[in-house]
Amino acid sequence: MAHTTGGTGGTDLRRYAVVGTGHRAQMYIEALLGPHADVGEIAAWCEPNPARAAYYDELVAAARPGADAPARYEPDQLEKMIDVEGVQTVVVTSPDHTHADVVARAMAAGADVVLEKPMTTDLAGTRRIVDAAERTGRSIVLTFNYRYSPRNSALKEVIASGEIGEVTSVHFEWVLDTMHGADYFRRWHRRKDLSGGLLVHKASHHFDLVNWWLADLPSRVYASGALRFYGAANARRRGLIRRPARGTGRTGRPDPFSLDLRDDPRLERLYLQAEEHDGYLRDRDVFTSGITIEDNLAVVVDYARGATLTYSLNAHSPWEGYRVSVNGTGGRAELEVVERGAVVLGKDGRPVLDPSLVEADDDDAVRPRGQRLVVQQHWGAAREVEIPEGSGAHGGGDDRMLADVFRGPGHDPLGRAAGLLDGVRSVVVGIAGNTSLETGLPVRTADLRLGLA
Ligand SMILES: NC(=O)c1ccc[n+]([C@@H]2O[C@H](COP(=O)([O-])OP(=O)(O)OC[C@H]3O[C@@H](n4cnc5c(N)ncnc54)[C@H](O)[C@@H]3O)[C@@H](O)[C@H]2O)c1
Repeated sequence: MAHTTGGTGGTDLRRYAVVGTGHRAQMYIEALLGPHADVGEIAAWCEPNPARAAYYDELVAAARPGADAPARYEPDQLEKMIDVEGVQTVVVTSPDHTHADVVARAMAAGADVVLEKPMTTDLAGTRRIVDAAERTGRSIVLTFNYRYSPRNSALKEVIASGEIGEVTSVHFEWVLDTMHGADYFRRWHRRKDLSGGLLVHKASHHFDLVNWWLADLPSRVYASGALRFYGAANARRRGLIRRPARGTGRTGRPDPFSLDLRDDPRLERLYLQAEEHDGYLRDRDVFTSGITIEDNLAVVVDYARGATLTYSLNAHSPWEGYRVSVNGTGGRAELEVVERGAVVLGKDGRPVLDPSLVEADDDDAVRPRGQRLVVQQHWGAAREVEIPEGSGAHGGGDDRMLADVFRGPGHDPLGRAAGLLDGVRSVVVGIAGNTSLETGLPVRTADLRLGLA
């Protein structure tokens, strides 16, 4: 079969297609154009928006001067793309609500899958993916990059070593600041039918961490929460009125919640210049109506072996990071991470855009960026665990994950590579949590009949 290719054109390279060439796709595309170009090539894009596909054509052209651009297909041509382009693996970076359909169809068409979290947004989607994987036998890799963060791996090592004994409870608090947190209220994430809400879209990362840290299964979930900060009703209550519908081009009073896509060339290309094709607005005001997700969430999760997780998520904090405390029969481990000590405003009153979560100047921030893992056994002194830092994004964690994804997981005593069951076990907590939010009652995960064990 003669294939167009953005790769080197070698015959033994695995042929990949990227489904959804938005913001997140770039990490995988750069990996296949760079460090993993010797094992894989990009055969095609499956993407409804030609401007976003064109952005990545340029990346391919810059890395492979003279090579053909990857072939382009629409979402309804997924099966045709897999067949005609000889695609062996699809990398799925389309919005959450599309995952189940894309994965089931790609597997049925004969492709393996690399899937961004969350696995899907609801119970029907989870069942569809599980059924497709069982029926077709195709493989699925879930890219839980947080596992690979050296600090999270270090906590896994501490727990697995038995130093704090058998885990009896975990207290996990995650705070998103008014820059990153606000971003979930601007576009498709703001609708529960499209993202599953933050319990699914965001917290499935965190639930996966706890499942993995404890090597245990969530058995019962109770959740409580609401939209208390963002959205039109909250804005009215606080006197935030007469706001423009979007951030780009906004004039007038300085506004720390407004996002001007022109401030970031990548956002401008991927979204502002792509709007004419699909009307996708990336910079909607976070105080408009139509938001159906929560911004404050609390969850209690019981685990099969008896531990309890108490979890909370806040999406409008002045700083960003997380705290985890793990209590065991032999002691306690505490991990504290400050990813950004403060949101810094520029002269125009808007947050200084920096997607890499850099901290405020230490002079400005009482809470400097950093991380600390402390372990203390009963009757002993606390000791700080050294966290090995690599280079690259997330302390080198992303690079290690991409190597597992594209070269196959090597021997890893921490078992960081994640598959179907990990996807199900994490998303089920969010899905059960959403049911609990609706009913006010706890949900037993076994009642969802997903075959978690
Ligand atoms: N692991 C992480 O830390 C992390 C970070 C960011 C995003 N993500 C995940 O990555 C995925 C993409 O997020 P994003 O921020 O890039 O979103 P995005 O909206 O920027 O990009 C999604 C792309 O998919 C396209 N698309 C829409 N429907 C499609 C369909 N049916 N088939 C193919 N393409 C379709 C859109 O046009 C867009 O180009 C989401 O699932 C998100 O949860 C994960």
